[in-house]
Order: sequence, then C-alpha cells, then structure tokens
Amino acid sequence: MYLDQAASSFPKPPEVVEAMTKALTEYAANPGRSGHRMAVKANEVISQAREQLADFFGFAYPDRVCFTSNATSALNQGIKGFRFQSGDHVLTTSYEHNSVRRPLENMKEKSGIEITYFDSGVTEDFDMDAFEKEVTPQTKMIVVSHGSNLTGKITPIKEIGKLAKERGITFLVDAAQTAGVLPISMENMNIDLLAFPGHKGLLGPQGTGVLIVGKGVDLEPLQQGGTGSQSESIQQPEVYPEYLESGTLNTPGIAGLLAGLETVKRLSLEAIHRHEQLLISKLIDGLRSIDYVTIYGPSSNRLGVVPFTIEGIDGQEIAIILDQHYDIAVRAGLHCTPIGHESIGTSECGAVRISVGPYNTEEEIEQVLTALQEIVEGYFG
Ligand code: ALA
Repeated sequence: MYLDQAASSFPKPPEVVEAMTKALTEYAANPGRSGHRMAVKANEVISQAREQLADFFGFAYPDRVCFTSNATSALNQGIKGFRFQSGDHVLTTSYEHNSVRRPLENMKEKSGIEITYFDSGVTEDFDMDAFEKEVTPQTKMIVVSHGSNLTGKITPIKEIGKLAKERGITFLVDAAQTAGVLPISMENMNIDLLAFPGHKGLLGPQGTGVLIVGKGVDLEPLQQGGTGSQSESIQQPEVYPEYLESGTLNTPGIAGLLAGLETVKRLSLEAIHRHEQLLISKLIDGLRSIDYVTIYGPSSNRLGVVPFTIEGIDGQEIAIILDQHYDIAVRAGLHCTPIGHESIGTSECGAVRISVGPYNTEEEIEQVLTALQEIVEGYFG
C-alpha cells in the first residue's frame, strides 16, 4: 500500500507507461537537433507538452515553459538565476522545502541578499496583514510554496500575487505539492515564476520538472551548452525555451508527463482534491481515536498530507514497522523542511507523514489505521 504520494505519486496511470514506452521504442531521437522524422516527432510531442502545460497553468506563452529535471532544479534556476544585488530582500515562509531554503541561503552567502522566513502558523489561517508588513522597499522576490509538504497547509497565492504585483515584486511559486491537485492560473494569480515537478500530482515520471517564466522576468541561465539553435554563436541563445534548456531533453519523461497531465485533466482537479480531502478526513478522524497520537496541521482546507507522532515511539521505527510488517509505505523524518518541523515542534524526532493521491482508497485508510492501532497496543499494551 503506497501512502507516500507527497514524495512521488504511485502508481502511474497506464497511459503514462504507454506514452513512455512509445517514445522509447518509436521516436527516441534528439528533439530539436536533427531534421529527420523521428527527431521531428520527438519535438512535436515536447511542443505539445509545452502547449498543454501553459494552458493548464493559465499562461499564454508555451515557449516560456522550460523543462528541468525536477522541481528543485526549476527552483534553483528561478532563485539563483534571478539577478539579485547585495542588500536585496526575499520574503518567504517557514514552511519552505530545502529546495527553496538552500538556494536562498546560498544566495545570501554569495550575493548578500536578506531573507525573511515568515511564520505562517500551523492553522489554516494565513495572516496577510502580518505578511505584508514584512515587505520592505528592498524586497525583490516573494517565494512561497503553494502547499506545505509537511502539514498540507495551503498558502493563499492569489492574495500574495496581488500584493506582489502592487508592490512590483517578482513572485515565485513552488507548486511541488499542488500542481495537478489545485487550480493554478499564472495570469489570474499574478505569478511570475512557477516551479513544479512532473512526478507528483501531475502523475508523470521522475526526472521531470518545469519552470514557467513569466514575460518580463529576467533570469540568467544556470547552464550553458548545446541548444540545437544558433550553434555558430559562443553565447547562449537568448530565445526561450532554449535559453534555459541546454542539453538533450528527457523526451520519454516529457511524453510521460504529457500523458499524466491528460489523465489529471480527465479525472479533473476538483474530483482529485475532493477525493483526497475525503481520505484525509477519514484518516484524521481515525488517528484522533488512537491513544498517544498527536496530529499536526490545519483542521480544514489542507492537502492530502497528514503528519503525526506517537508519544514514546520513534517516527522512523513506526515507518519501518509499517513497511516491513504491514507492507505500507509512508515517510518519516524531517521531510526536507526543518524549519517547518521547528514550527510544529517536531524537529527533534521528526514526524510520520501519510500522504494520499487519486488512486488511494478508503479501505486503505482503514487498513493503515488498524495497523497503527496495533502498533500502539503492541508498545503500550
Ligand atoms: N519533497 C518530497 C517530500 O515531501 C520529496 O517527500
């Protein structure tokens, strides 16, 4: 039983496997490099993926949909590629993943930027007034995760986008946990940079990620190299998407991502989110009735992610027993969000996280609850 969907979604839809097999067996040539039919076909599928992704995320320029190898590389490009100057300020939150925190801290060390980690709290509320007070005349970027991978808390990105636009601040959204789960429109939400993985809510394969770069955002590419265009020039072509896409693209992965996106559209975001909400409310109700369990995160309006601890039992041990004895996959530890764990008070021992996706069922939730009840009884009698 797979309840680690926030780390990577599983199973993949059969359409994803078929699309990847087709790419590998029929047209695994180099897209955008040669003029033969296989290369053209590969390029067509990639262009189709750019078009559908742009449309899905409310953005009018498919050529600014840049493929990366994961959300981390997209976020690194968005943060470290931004032309910060010493003294520039970045406003972010205490629930950011290390894929935001580490590049920011790196920029602090190397470029002298200032960072504010706004503590957005553990409940479903987000104090926009307090957040706005953290904006300074030096604030050049706001970076927030749309949904916490630790608590499932959802950030009001539309309101933050409005604030960013009013104050002329570049707005970068980490949609690692929400792409394919919640509606996102770059245009309506005033998002300048949108980073997300292909292998989570979009149901595609690992090794795929995307950075969508709004018109008017000036990034410096973190890599230079072959782009299949302007080969005579020693400079990186300043044309999107090649500007940020040096080297051969992951054609089978992108074909799989396209098929994953089509599956999400067929299932519908609304139905996926509703299903995940149903599963976690059942899970939370069940966890509440087990002794020694503490649940963290908002009481409503959250993603399909539930962290908890069991007093006196190490989280890693619970995850190992679930895996080895019950064949149930969950994730324990710090979930690459150490400051988030500080905020909920679990940084010393970490927490166990159960996360659900469109293919999990109510029966599976009942089974994991029974397993956890047995574990508690086994420890405490
Ligand atoms: N960011 C992923 C997680 O939360 C890997 O597990």
